[in-house]
Amino acid sequence: MTVSVTIDGHAVSVADGSTILEACREIGSEQPTLCWVSTLTPVNVCRVCVVEVEGSRTLVPSCSRQVEEGMVVDTDSERVRHSRKMVLEFLASSADLSESEMAPWMERYGVDPSRYGPPSGPHHDRDHRHAGHHPEPDGSAAETVDQPVKVDNALYIRDYASCILCYKCVQACGEEAQNTFAIAVAGRGFDARISTELDTPLTDSACVFCGNCVGVCPTGALQFRSEYEMRKAGIWNEDEQKVTRTVCSYCAIGCNLELHVQDNRIVKVTSPLDHPVTHGNLCIKGRFGYDYVQELGDLATSPIDEVLRAARADSR
Ligand code: SF4
Ligand code: SF4
Ligand code: FES
Repeated sequence: MTVSVTIDGHAVSVADGSTILEACREIGSEQPTLCWVSTLTPVNVCRVCVVEVEGSRTLVPSCSRQVEEGMVVDTDSERVRHSRKMVLEFLASSADLSESEMAPWMERYGVDPSRYGPPSGPHHDRDHRHAGHHPEPDGSAAETVDQPVKVDNALYIRDYASCILCYKCVQACGEEAQNTFAIAVAGRGFDARISTELDTPLTDSACVFCGNCVGVCPTGALQFRSEYEMRKAGIWNEDEQKVTRTVCSYCAIGCNLELHVQDNRIVKVTSPLDHPVTHGNLCIKGRFGYDYVQELGDLATSPIDEVLRAARADSR
């Protein structure tokens, strides 16, 4: 059964049960999203995807609201633009969105996080704040989630200064994919943060290093150690990277891998979301076990090898 709707003046028919976002994509109209990914249940927390629906008192999240027969949707009304601008300004004034894909949207809506003052931080106490005990803001700076990067293992880092609390990593680690429950939300209000149990390092936590949380993070808060070290060294270059789809060679399940290769080196591995078996998820071997194809020997002398070798020595 199909449902007919009008989006920005264009009539479109989509399958019953589709979301407004899916209907928008049907007519080639992209909408910004942060907390949504096709493989997880929508949590509706970022509100950057809101649209105006005729007859609806409030703006609605396009990522989760299903279409209804005769629905008339406006994705670019003054109200939508204003709301998206405010949401992006609040997010960008408190978290670092520079490695998210929001830059074109921020430009389009004239987002100016500096309106809220210079950013505060870094905060070294965020993991130990008590619920309900907020430091009184003095209004001289915009409160942020800025804090030191957590580098506690050789495979991936956690830079919660970029975290917008979209919960995707928690969903992926929990019952929607991995069922490991190594991470959850701790704290309340602005002190809320993603944490392992009692803030233990990942190596002492229940984490099995599948990297499925890294695979769904929309802001770069969770990052391959290789990507993090290369960005720090100024040699991460996505324009030069080739992405090759292949099949994991470790077992018979047949998970698909996307190998991101720069300067003849695998620098990151992702998994296609549309794969019917794994839906973007992998285990530690498929996601991180690629060094055997490019063991860094004495003869490996590219800048990437030097950066990765130093990172590896640092992890020992
Ligand atoms: S790597 Fe896997 S097990 Fe560890 S926190 Fe992320 S999703 Fe959970
Ligand atoms: S770490 Fe990434 S995936 Fe997890 S809540 Fe923060 S932004 Fe979302
Ligand atoms: S992407 Fe729709 S609410 Fe976050």
